[in-house]
Amino acid sequence: MKHEWLESAVFYQVYPTSFKDSNGDGIGDIQGIISKLDYIKDLGVNAIWLSPCFCSPFGDGGYDITDYYKVDPRFGTNEDLITFFEEAKKLGIYVLLDLVLGHTSIEHPAFKESQKDEKNEFSDMFIWKPGEEPFNNKDNKFLSGIAERPDMFMINYYAIQPAINYGFYKRKAKWQDSPDDEAPKKNLQRLIDICEFWLGLGCKGFRVDMAGSMVKSDPKGVGNIEFWNKAISAVKKKYPESIFLSEWYSPVNSVKKSSFDIDFSSEYFLYMVWTKRGFDYTNRSCYLGDKSGYYTLAIKRFKRMRRVVKNKGYNAVALGNHDKIRMSYGRDHDISKVTFAFHLLAPHLPFVYYGDEIGIPYMKIKSKDGGYRRTGSRTPMQWDNTKNRGFSSSDEIYLPVDKTDCISVKSQADDENSLLTTVKALIKLKRTMKCFRIDSGFKIIKSNNGGNPLVFKRYSNSDEAFVILFPKDEKHTLKLNFIKNIDQFKIISNNLIIKDRIIESKGKAFAVLYKDNP
Ligand code: BGC
Repeated sequence: MKHEWLESAVFYQVYPTSFKDSNGDGIGDIQGIISKLDYIKDLGVNAIWLSPCFCSPFGDGGYDITDYYKVDPRFGTNEDLITFFEEAKKLGIYVLLDLVLGHTSIEHPAFKESQKDEKNEFSDMFIWKPGEEPFNNKDNKFLSGIAERPDMFMINYYAIQPAINYGFYKRKAKWQDSPDDEAPKKNLQRLIDICEFWLGLGCKGFRVDMAGSMVKSDPKGVGNIEFWNKAISAVKKKYPESIFLSEWYSPVNSVKKSSFDIDFSSEYFLYMVWTKRGFDYTNRSCYLGDKSGYYTLAIKRFKRMRRVVKNKGYNAVALGNHDKIRMSYGRDHDISKVTFAFHLLAPHLPFVYYGDEIGIPYMKIKSKDGGYRRTGSRTPMQWDNTKNRGFSSSDEIYLPVDKTDCISVKSQADDENSLLTTVKALIKLKRTMKCFRIDSGFKIIKSNNGGNPLVFKRYSNSDEAFVILFPKDEKHTLKLNFIKNIDQFKIISNNLIIKDRIIESKGKAFAVLYKDNP
């Protein structure tokens, strides 16, 4: 669905364990986030995606829930969360919660009931396959050996995350329910109830975890499209303005064919590339053009996603998130500024992961909370240069804070050349100029030479802007003969000078020339 406020929105993702500790126990909490709402407001964003904050043993960073109706004591109380919604709203900021309903935690009371041999109300809430020969379990998606009942349960992600039973689109065995069977229908209703509960308390909507894999054996997504059409339309009957953001990576299935408002589309294509060995974070990237050519892929994808979601919703790209190596890894602040200029001003719905706006480094640390290599992207926010970088007063903090660099909000706030100042200026353009709204005009002006420079124009009936990126670490000159009345444009830039309508770039540079039409 189209929502006026999303046209110029910028989201900020907060990982609650690491944003701000208010009670000195070494772990971030909701009161801590509330105390930093002024910072979030000042950054200029108007929406927050809060990573999971519900009761959990934290076998997977809170993506393993034991009570969907209760905030985990590590973060505070339900009252704290409600206050957070209210205080954020007063500042014009909406909050999306993480909806993790493809699986629960293995510790969820309903799963414990489900393991029992006697039939009970939760027996079919999860996916169980008869497992008379548990030691011949060749299917690594199923686990046996812990339940009283003689069956094995389906794992959704880690072994500690049993899959909730929403049915199988293509049924191949008797034990597989269809989505229209009783147990899957009950589970769908459970999901709707949870959404309505939190919307009733003031959240704006949900980022939906693993949205494309609720219904199983569904290679084309048809069952999941039907599933979400039912779920979202039921919720929107009561809460028409609620927002659903899918982690599906398929704007066709989620926004075009189903009822999601936003889909996470292609974060990978911005600063990392999929190779045979997995994601390559440092040496190659798409539009940054570190190696020429990849930017065309990014642009192509942007254009395609734009066509797909047009009139139906939005596509969103997150530069980084709690699952990815931080964007700062192997990159300095100059190239990060180029990255942000593209990210914040291209036609999509941009997400900023907490700390990326100041370039928090990726830390190679031991796994915690099932994070594995992701743990290094979840370290505490760096507020200032006091104890624990101002994150916590505790002598023992839960995740280590980076001590190698003097990167902090405080050290960058008054520096007009800092990454933070640049990101804020770009967010302000995105949020206030009509030409940067998602559906405003987008035209590639120059993209040859490996995207160095890459120039695109954004325009509306009342304003226009040129975004000029020089991602490579080499000198370059560029004639600005494609801009008429250049004297009327204001400029934000880094690492370049403009003289006599010519840009002289030192490399890893960008400029945004923008003007209101009289
Ligand atoms: C989340 C991960 C999580 C996984 C399982 C992903 O989409 O972003 O952090 O481990 O789902 O819930």
